[in-house]
Amino acid sequence: MAKLTIEELNELGLRAEAMPRHVAMIMDGNGRWAKKNGFLRAMGHRAGVTRLRELVRFSSDSGIKALTLYAFSTENWKRPDDELGVLFSLLIEFFNKEIDELHRNNVCIRSIGELDAFPLKVREAVKNAEQRTKNNGGLMLNIALNYGSQAEILRAAGALCKRAIETGELPTKDDFEQELYTCGLPELDLLIRTSGELRLSNYLLYQAAYAELYFTDVFWPDFTKEEYIKAIKEYQRRSRRYGGLE
Ligand code: FPP
Repeated sequence: MAKLTIEELNELGLRAEAMPRHVAMIMDGNGRWAKKNGFLRAMGHRAGVTRLRELVRFSSDSGIKALTLYAFSTENWKRPDDELGVLFSLLIEFFNKEIDELHRNNVCIRSIGELDAFPLKVREAVKNAEQRTKNNGGLMLNIALNYGSQAEILRAAGALCKRAIETGELPTKDDFEQELYTCGLPELDLLIRTSGELRLSNYLLYQAAYAELYFTDVFWPDFTKEEYIKAIKEYQRRSRRYGGLE
């Protein structure tokens, strides 16, 4: 991976100083992509992982600080066992196969969510990737695994209640944010969802308070680097006022 210069970003139609710091992605439409192309759903998920590589690389090269991917939600357990098996295998493969290159490129991998529910091999692959890359100062690559915003918020509220009982003091906004999985990450700037669905599906509900939302009809396996650039261009055109005036 080579960092893109200001001129190279300009040639792509992007302004270096206005790149989002933190991008989140809901990688939706693998199943429909597979159906459209006459493949099994498993092939859709595999194509989805393949797509990921160039997007992680572009995020790192273009100066984005954090990328947070919704790989498995607290609701995904409802899927049939064979599909869960496919997703687990792909996760293990991703963490084991990609780790060397990601590590070489200074990417810091972190999972967000309740990892304990996964089979041992998934947990081991994730923990190993986290451990190996924990001191890297490049792109912060967060993989949401058994993640749900409502569970995250409840967990934080529980921790804060306990502390409030002990100290007798009410928590601040900072205290609350410290208890979220995203603690230490830059504020979420851009949230992308593929496949034409117009909802957040229990993803980063607190963090998305002032994020720019980008929805596209493109299925996840077709969400190329060019599509990503299109989303960032649209982000750079938006006027972010945070409730204030221009
Ligand atoms: C949504 O497509 C996608 C998922 C539930 C899983 C996303 C997972 C991956 C891309 C692979 C694993 C991730 C990593 C980080 C290695 P869908 O199955 O809901 O598609 P559909 O709505 O068209 O059926």
